[in-house]
Amino acid sequence: MKNIAKKKKMYIKTYGCQMNVYDSDKMLDLMIPHGFVEEKDFKDADLIILNTCHIREKAAEKVYSDLGRIVPIKKKAMKSGRKIKIVVAGCVAQAEGREIIKRQPAVDIVVGPQTYHKLPEFLFNSDKVSKSVVHTEFPVESKFDEIKINRILNNPVSFLSIQEGCNKFCSFCVVPYTRGAEYSRPGLDVLEEAKSLIKKGAKEICLLGQNVNAYHGQVGNKLWTLSRLIKEIAEIEGLRRIRYTTSHPSDMDEELIKAHGEVGALMPYLHLPVQSGDDDVLKSMNRKYTVETYKTIIEKLRTVCPDIALSSDFIVGFPGESDKAFDKTIKLVKEINFSQAYSFKYSRRPGTPGSIMKRQVSEKIKSKRLLALQKILNDQQLFFNMSFLNSKLEVLLERKGKYKNQLLGRSPYMQAIHVTDPSIALGQFIDVTIAEATKNSLRGNLIAINKRGMN
Ligand code: 5AD
Ligand code: SF4
Repeated sequence: MKNIAKKKKMYIKTYGCQMNVYDSDKMLDLMIPHGFVEEKDFKDADLIILNTCHIREKAAEKVYSDLGRIVPIKKKAMKSGRKIKIVVAGCVAQAEGREIIKRQPAVDIVVGPQTYHKLPEFLFNSDKVSKSVVHTEFPVESKFDEIKINRILNNPVSFLSIQEGCNKFCSFCVVPYTRGAEYSRPGLDVLEEAKSLIKKGAKEICLLGQNVNAYHGQVGNKLWTLSRLIKEIAEIEGLRRIRYTTSHPSDMDEELIKAHGEVGALMPYLHLPVQSGDDDVLKSMNRKYTVETYKTIIEKLRTVCPDIALSSDFIVGFPGESDKAFDKTIKLVKEINFSQAYSFKYSRRPGTPGSIMKRQVSEKIKSKRLLALQKILNDQQLFFNMSFLNSKLEVLLERKGKYKNQLLGRSPYMQAIHVTDPSIALGQFIDVTIAEATKNSLRGNLIAINKRGMN
């Protein structure tokens, strides 16, 4: 296998969710032992991987437009004797399969999210055959066995995939079709990976899953829930922060809610998508909770963790959403007061029940509603950030900023904070005073470097 590539350059573009970011990282991990190095410019790469997202139509179309730019580079390179391989991975690969090769025959390999662990093998074989190949099976367990290798971390914040796939079948969503049935990794495997990440310098771990709070990982003849897993991980020496995403309101069990009050390392922030503030819309979305249930969960969370910052996803213009129904979403947003949120126009995804529902909403109305909703959400986000002006926040520094001596990190509430100071370093926890607040970020002035967070 070693001879498939000798220090070849690999470019990987990630679309969509954190799960894809995690998968892209793992693909890089898989290729490095086969002589690949990461390349940031696709024009110089020998291997180009597009790790795609299919959640909304726009995301999928973007892949085809990117392929339209990449394919001519491959053709030009071929004329000068340089071989470039193009791989389409991720959810578009899973959903469209051979259609991708029909539309772009220059694509060499199409590989779904459950088979990318075999990428080195696929590439090796594709050297021998000239035909493009499609791999979209669902052997999910073996994937997690294969992708345990981790590079030396250079980021104090690490993602850890613990659950994948989804059985919820929300009527707008392609995930159950592209990622398959829900699968939880065994508890001890997750614990082992968490320990190894922490050993390599992770101070914050974000547990990932499409429906992460449905986690039920096998340990002996027992099943660990997400709250159990969080408690186990919180015990590992050196770990300071835990987060998890993305959750479904129906899986917010009492233990998990309580954990927000009990586990110090569990950050006071939760992304809990409600999607709509109208019960009829929620019903036809197949979300299986009511607005009242959602509000009760939030109330309980705020009782155990009064400062918890809340985030959500919203879809506007789902089939059958009337003006009145949309007004109820606005009402709910005003009642809850989110620290941030994501909002989208409903996008018809082929094969999902929503796509064939009657009373589809016009683009014009969707746009109008999105604008109105985002105005309120943006104001709430700005207001939330402004409320920290002149107060102290702890930041975990995780990235370099644009300017000299500037580093970026996040507060416990997930706010992006930038700090400029010659004495700070990546991986440190520092206390800052907030000097400036905008919707998207905060600027902090260093008070002190928190020694507890240093190696
Ligand atoms: N149209 C618009 N938004 C969607 N989402 C999922 N499917 C669709 C769709 N068909 C949104 C949901 C979900 C987030 C990840 O993407 O709000 O929570
Ligand atoms: Fe999609 Fe619903 Fe599953 Fe989330 S819970 S991944 S929105 S089907």
